[in-house]
Amino acid sequence: MSSGRHRAVAFAPIRPRPQRRTGSLGFARRSAKVQMSSVAITGATGFLGLHLVRELLVRNHDLIALVRDPGALDRIARFLELVGEPSRLLDALPRRISIVESDVSLPMLGLSPKAFQRLADDVDVVWHSAASTELHDDLESLRPINVDGTRHILELVSAGQRRPLLCHVSTAFVAGARREGVVYESELNGSAGFENAYEESKFEAETLVRDWSRRYDRTVVVARPSILVTDRPPHADLPMHTLLSLGQIMRDAATRLCGTSRTAVRVVGHPQGHLNFLPVERAAQVLARLTEAEHPRRVSTYHVVQGHDVSVRVLMDLMETLAPLQMTMQSAAPAEQTALEAFLDRSPTAAMLSHRRRYDDTRTVSLLGPPTSPIRVDLDYLSAGIGAAPVAPPAPRLGNRS
Ligand SMILES: NC(=O)c1ccc[n+]([C@@H]2O[C@H](COP(=O)([O-])OP(=O)(O)OC[C@H]3O[C@@H](n4cnc5c(N)ncnc54)[C@H](OP(=O)(O)O)[C@@H]3O)[C@@H](O)[C@H]2O)c1
Repeated sequence: MSSGRHRAVAFAPIRPRPQRRTGSLGFARRSAKVQMSSVAITGATGFLGLHLVRELLVRNHDLIALVRDPGALDRIARFLELVGEPSRLLDALPRRISIVESDVSLPMLGLSPKAFQRLADDVDVVWHSAASTELHDDLESLRPINVDGTRHILELVSAGQRRPLLCHVSTAFVAGARREGVVYESELNGSAGFENAYEESKFEAETLVRDWSRRYDRTVVVARPSILVTDRPPHADLPMHTLLSLGQIMRDAATRLCGTSRTAVRVVGHPQGHLNFLPVERAAQVLARLTEAEHPRRVSTYHVVQGHDVSVRVLMDLMETLAPLQMTMQSAAPAEQTALEAFLDRSPTAAMLSHRRRYDDTRTVSLLGPPTSPIRVDLDYLSAGIGAAPVAPPAPRLGNRS
């Protein structure tokens, strides 16, 4: 599955403006609590971004949304209405959110030099959440948004006279194809390769951020959420999320290749496999709190994860409620695969069924305290979030699932 290689990330020097000096420590390092007057955010219309916008607004931050959709404010308003925010917040949106139409994949975000500099000088914090999260895309399609997009955001924070703090949304999946053991927040190591090009592009982006921080002695916050989920049923005003799109792809493939009757498939997995699914609302809360915290390191990387993992068997059960499948786990691919088995074997879901790694979140916990959320992410929770209803009466189990 993994190629074990990754492209060296080309680093084009991004020169920050001259910085204020602070005594014998040399260049000012932003370790003190951030006093925010202006927070910019990319990806504000995305699954995580909408929740982060909500959290930041509720915490009294006014925002500059760097979005490519001119109708973004309406989308944000519809989302806030969906999640039950009061009309006084909705009424205040035009005053509290400035929309800057921009595209992270373009140099200077597609803005004029004057508009780019004005934006850079206006911000104190930039949350960079925009990305392509297409797990099936290739690297060449993903790099312009995920890697070049991050480079352009680094150019923005470099140009800002107020030395804005960059908060970069990465992913726990920069750990790549490493399936076992503990992944630490200090680590960024691509030697195990990657299970898909999305992971690799996010790895390259995080590498760029780290290199920039070291080179220019600038503090950055890197947040690495695990798989973001919700128990809110699918809705037109709530963007697709990973599980929902993976489930739909699987259902379409099963129906196309095998029709609508329940079909037995053998999938490769590990009986002790487990995954970390994090409620997106909690991820947004943690990110909002990270914005306001004091960060002790130049590169402060935080795993943003749920306090408990979920067995990969729950993922199989979930997929069986979405698609007419009866899945049996095996330790290796069968010598002769059906077309559907071959398809599943190549899908990102297949790789997840073998994951046994854990994400150490010591830094997050020491900064923000232990998670207090009583939410239990289980089959019921995940099923609610994909609007799962059984596609056919459950068939008798085939083979040994334990
Ligand atoms: N979802 C997860 O499970 C998960 C887990 C860990 C980390 N993450 C990370 O969290 C971040 C947000 O993910 P998400 O789930 O919210 O993704 P998402 O729902 O796919 O949203 C992506 C956002 O990026 C914007 N965007 C894409 N291309 C852009 C461009 N060229 N210029 C400007 N904006 C652009 C999209 O704008 P439009 O609305 O215009 O398309 C959208 O707002 C990403 O960095 C992702 O890697 C996600």
